[in-house]
Amino acid sequence: MQNSNIAKKMNQTILLPKLEEKKLVPVIKIDHGEDAAPLAEALCAGGLPVAEVTFRTDAAEESIRIMKQKYPEMLVGAGTVVNLEQAKRAFAAGVSFIVTPGISRAVIEFSIEHKVPVFPGTCTPTEIMTGIEYGLEVVKFFPAVQYGGTGILKTLSSVFPGIRFMPTGGINANNVKEFLAVKSVIACGGSWMVPGDLIGQGKFDEIKDLTARAVLLASR
Ligand code: 3PG
Repeated sequence: MQNSNIAKKMNQTILLPKLEEKKLVPVIKIDHGEDAAPLAEALCAGGLPVAEVTFRTDAAEESIRIMKQKYPEMLVGAGTVVNLEQAKRAFAAGVSFIVTPGISRAVIEFSIEHKVPVFPGTCTPTEIMTGIEYGLEVVKFFPAVQYGGTGILKTLSSVFPGIRFMPTGGINANNVKEFLAVKSVIACGGSWMVPGDLIGQGKFDEIKDLTARAVLLASR
């Protein structure tokens, strides 16, 4: 109960309506910090001032810092946060939210303590119940398509009516509408509008166009 009260004091009240409005969370793997500013610009120009910068590369922390400095209004989260050390680095970089691929109590507790919204990765009832124990309102459902897609998501939603989901993993332009149609889905994560090869080749205009198309699709 104490955890629940603390969680409600997090910045979720500000973040969740914004996520719900944008409906999409671009999942980014960025190799070079110098790509962070043009990438953020492309996302914003495409109508999606949201980024989940994954800690799968050494450039993640620097990229988050650059994006937040250049676009302070942008929601810049840290993704693939797997341990406390990464959560601390993400927090120090000014992150708007933290996403984990699975349950890490250390990361969840650090995020709650520092009032950073945290979306732990879940795909089983037990993992969702861990999120509930911490008073979380939203969890990531990962990997969404590979673990059964909207079918299992609807079943989990009926079991946990107070929980909202951010499905991620295998979502793209072909199936995003199906996920967004599930009532409990607050937003979908995905990398299809920010492909690593386009980032590496500096093709930010193409990323802007892919983003704009994704935004249009999600808004219909
Ligand atoms: C994630 O980290 O959430 C996923 O790897 C993103 O999945 P996708 O590349 O299939 O969109």
